[in-house]
Amino acid sequence: MTQQHNNPILIEPTGELPRRVGIIGAGTIGPDIGYYLKSAIPGLNLVLIDISRDALERALERLHAYADKGLARGKLTPEQAAGVRQNLAASIDYDDLDGCDWVIEAATENIELKKQIFSRVEDITGRDCMITSNTSSIPAHSLFSHLRHPERTTVTHFFAPAFRNPVVEVVDWQQAAPAFIRRLRRLFYVTGKVPMVTRDVVCFMLDRIFDNWCNEAGFLLTGATPAQIDHTAGAYVHAGPFFVLNMSNGNPIIIETNTLQAELEGSHYQPANIFQQAIDHDNLGQPQITKIDNLGQPQIGGNDNLGQPQIADRGLLWDESGKWLTIKPGENVDVPQAVTAEIRDRLLGVLFSQTVDILDRDIGTAADLELGCRLAFAFRQGPLELMRELGEQESERILAKFTRAKPGMPGPQRPLHAYQDFHRFILADELDGVKIITLRRPEALNALHDNMTDEILALLKQYEDDPQTRGFIITGYGVAAFSAGADIGRFPSMLGDRDQCIDYARVCSRLLVYLDSCRKPVVAALNGMALGGGLELAIRCHGIVAVDNAWLQFPEITLGIAPGIGGMVVPYRRWPAAAAAFHGMLLAAEKMSAAKAHGLGIVDKLSETHDALLHDGIRLVGELADRRRGPADAPVSIAALPAGEDEPHSFAGQRLSGAVFAVIRQAISDAAAAASLDEALELGYAAFAESAATAAAREGISAFMEKRKPDFTGL
Ligand code: COA
Repeated sequence: MTQQHNNPILIEPTGELPRRVGIIGAGTIGPDIGYYLKSAIPGLNLVLIDISRDALERALERLHAYADKGLARGKLTPEQAAGVRQNLAASIDYDDLDGCDWVIEAATENIELKKQIFSRVEDITGRDCMITSNTSSIPAHSLFSHLRHPERTTVTHFFAPAFRNPVVEVVDWQQAAPAFIRRLRRLFYVTGKVPMVTRDVVCFMLDRIFDNWCNEAGFLLTGATPAQIDHTAGAYVHAGPFFVLNMSNGNPIIIETNTLQAELEGSHYQPANIFQQAIDHDNLGQPQITKIDNLGQPQIGGNDNLGQPQIADRGLLWDESGKWLTIKPGENVDVPQAVTAEIRDRLLGVLFSQTVDILDRDIGTAADLELGCRLAFAFRQGPLELMRELGEQESERILAKFTRAKPGMPGPQRPLHAYQDFHRFILADELDGVKIITLRRPEALNALHDNMTDEILALLKQYEDDPQTRGFIITGYGVAAFSAGADIGRFPSMLGDRDQCIDYARVCSRLLVYLDSCRKPVVAALNGMALGGGLELAIRCHGIVAVDNAWLQFPEITLGIAPGIGGMVVPYRRWPAAAAAFHGMLLAAEKMSAAKAHGLGIVDKLSETHDALLHDGIRLVGELADRRRGPADAPVSIAALPAGEDEPHSFAGQRLSGAVFAVIRQAISDAAAAASLDEALELGYAAFAESAATAAAREGISAFMEKRKPDFTGL
């Protein structure tokens, strides 16, 4: 899909944020969507509509409970929590939708019912009211074509839990006005979501992956247990298909959506019969078990894969409530090697087949598909990344085997390497001759890793000598974070290995060193927090603009490590007069507001809104055109460092490690005195490696990964 702007903040604002929203359907997802909207849009008036008073009662309780929880966990301020509880109504009367500027339907997946609902909504609401459906499968044209004003209608498909899962598919269908689709993209973006535009095909983009993945798991039950399948799938996803089906009562969904796919696109999408049997568990009990001794050589694939269970001797498939008998994510179960191989080939087969089909039919973008699979379904990596890692030959083998066994299932229309040509972790845009690079890893607040920095570097190199390009802006996706630092998930494997740590720091620094001598101006546009490695990237850019609620921090010492890629060097060599403030940031993790950074000359311009930010950045690119800025290549004299402490504390009162405090203190001092920038940077890499060898680093990083507070006592 080609879009005019990849980063939705570049879309020209049209229309205000909605003030009154109606949600039809008080099941689970309806109230969850309501909570997202209430917590994201201050003062929003929300009305929930359902035919069941009980369901409405439960939905209201749910919203109040979310507000309590959000407050208790510090995710909501008391004002925000109060805002969720206020202006909240529930009704069985559709007339209460009057005055809504957005109605979202989240009712039963029934085309005729939904069409009637939309006709009614159109009669009650105004001409400009946005009308959207949360269907996971029914194409928009089947739902909205009959309306008088279909141009303000479409599917906005959320993923569970809708208040936390950021993905929303926005279906770009024939009769929807392009400006309406753009408005939705922008609206979702500024309220914290990750909108993904898809074409109007059955199941849109992401559920084509998920439903067929689950359906294939159903067919695999001819030769393996749910637990064996979930265990094998665990190499690729955090929770296997049967575990997820149990959590989401998903059996009927697979039947509905795959039946629809089969009707619209061919019988190869037919749902496995076993799902209906699981639903009918009360009447039919367990299916007939045919004893097959040779589990090592299961009869799966080929002609057996029609879902008629030829079930191996492996006990029951589901319990008395119809839940699949499976394991929890991370639990173990024995799976014979040949069974593992077959499950793997079939699951990857359907995954790759859907992937190439989605891209060949331009149903969505490769970048959205990758990110969507990670965010919406907790795939450990996107399917294209997986294909790249497995290599072309192995991926071809899997695809060929799958499409042979499942006639009709799509195969690749191009050589497999041709599907790999896209940016995975950044978005690239162009405005007024400036390339805008957006860091996009919303699942980790845009934390940086070398694949992401390599993409940035490649883009800089590609356009540095392009006469049409005046310069670059680097910004973060969303309204919360520029970047929350280096990806902490990559640290545990290197802790304690000095050479590997130094090597890591040098590799991570390639982009930063390049920026030092880049011939075109590069401006960091801080759309939110810039922490650790993210701040190290920002201060290496030649200029900084920031929204006024952004903030800067080096939290590394709270993780038991030193900032390795210039954090102890560059601030002092660029803004030596602010040295005392940097001491506090590096040795006590003090936060610096964008306003303070502006006062100290670190931030060039404060922007009042996210809209203004990139335009201010573009102006700064123009101002910097003839001026090169970067860290000094000579020693700097800096304010005296605070004395060493045995029991240092962070600005927030957290006990820190004395050993790491000493490493950072020494490195700041040595680097300031170093004869050249290169020498100073090398000292920084070495200090990072030294800190990473401490017991404090092990404790700090483990604590982050385990989501607990670190205990640096005695470290
Ligand atoms: N590396 C990897 N993942 C990171 C990350 C980083 N630097 N920063 C945040 N994330 C992940 C979190 O693990 C979390 O993932 P999960 O949803 O799978 O659990 C997700 O991003 C959201 O972060 P969360 O901590 O839930 O958000 P929050 O709003 O409660 O807190 C921060 C935000 C920034 C305060 C907190 O994420 C944090 O302290 N991050 C580490 C910052 C840091 O030390 N950076 C320097 C690294 S060198």
